[in-house]
Amino acid sequence: MSDSAPISVLWPDPSPGPVDDDTLIARYARADRPHLRMNFVTSVDGAVSLDGYSAGLSGASDKRVFGLLRMLCDALLVAAGTLRHERYRAIRLDERRRAWRRAHGLTEYPTLVVVSGSLNLDPAQAAFADAPVRPVVLTHRNAAAPPGLTDVADLVRHGDDRVDLVAGLAELHRRGLGQLLCEGGPHLFGALTAADLVDEVCLSIAPLAAGAGPGRITAGAPSPARSLPLRHVLRADDGTLLLRHARH
Ligand SMILES: NC(=O)c1ccc[n+]([C@@H]2O[C@H](COP(=O)([O-])OP(=O)(O)OC[C@H]3O[C@@H](n4cnc5c(N)ncnc54)[C@H](OP(=O)(O)O)[C@@H]3O)[C@@H](O)[C@H]2O)c1
Repeated sequence: MSDSAPISVLWPDPSPGPVDDDTLIARYARADRPHLRMNFVTSVDGAVSLDGYSAGLSGASDKRVFGLLRMLCDALLVAAGTLRHERYRAIRLDERRRAWRRAHGLTEYPTLVVVSGSLNLDPAQAAFADAPVRPVVLTHRNAAAPPGLTDVADLVRHGDDRVDLVAGLAELHRRGLGQLLCEGGPHLFGALTAADLVDEVCLSIAPLAAGAGPGRITAGAPSPARSLPLRHVLRADDGTLLLRHARH
């Protein structure tokens, strides 16, 4: 994968040429405290999708970093909307990445955490039914679970009639899931930003203009702007820019 998707560091320490996975892992290192990292891909004109899906924006270099970020996290947080729309399958890592996790004292696979207010979820979806680690569904106390969901996932309830994300993430931390990677989508990103829970945004910018129509990578009720300083800029041979912005 790394050979087919060469990536160089532009800033802060420019590399003379493409870098290996160890260099990328150091650039995206796990934090020394509970941490929420968002990962999105967008077009140069700010689209969240192409023809309704993120796949059209995601080239080989974005996929390379996407996979590395999955390898580095304790839990993968995703909104129910994106899980349903993108037809999420079970999180699988190849043997090389599982070996890296074992060598670093992590479980073989990260835990999938699905955020849903309605619990309109299909227990037969492969993300649940084939999961190598029992997934968690973060919901609220009034949500009614469909038949079979508790057979394939733990339901964690915070909030009376809407999900209390602050309390929910604190519970994930208590369960040992400190390094959280969130793959969206836009409504969850908007809500996490409003709750001031976002520590980092990793953004791939694909070299194309999607044109009018698609939304942004964030959505929902307006909230105050948050400062997120630039930490690195990577450039891929396929023309994708890979940015990392983080509070710390
Ligand atoms: N470019 C990218 O990197 C990227 C990444 C991800 C997604 N996408 C795209 O984004 C689109 C999907 O977006 P979407 O509008 O469906 O947004 P979304 O944020 O993926 O999903 C919205 C749904 O997720 C659940 N949810 C989100 N925030 C919640 C909260 N604070 N509390 C409780 N539940 C919450 C709710 O599910 P319930 O209805 O079950 O309550 C809500 O209806 C797709 O086109 C997808 O391809 C792009």
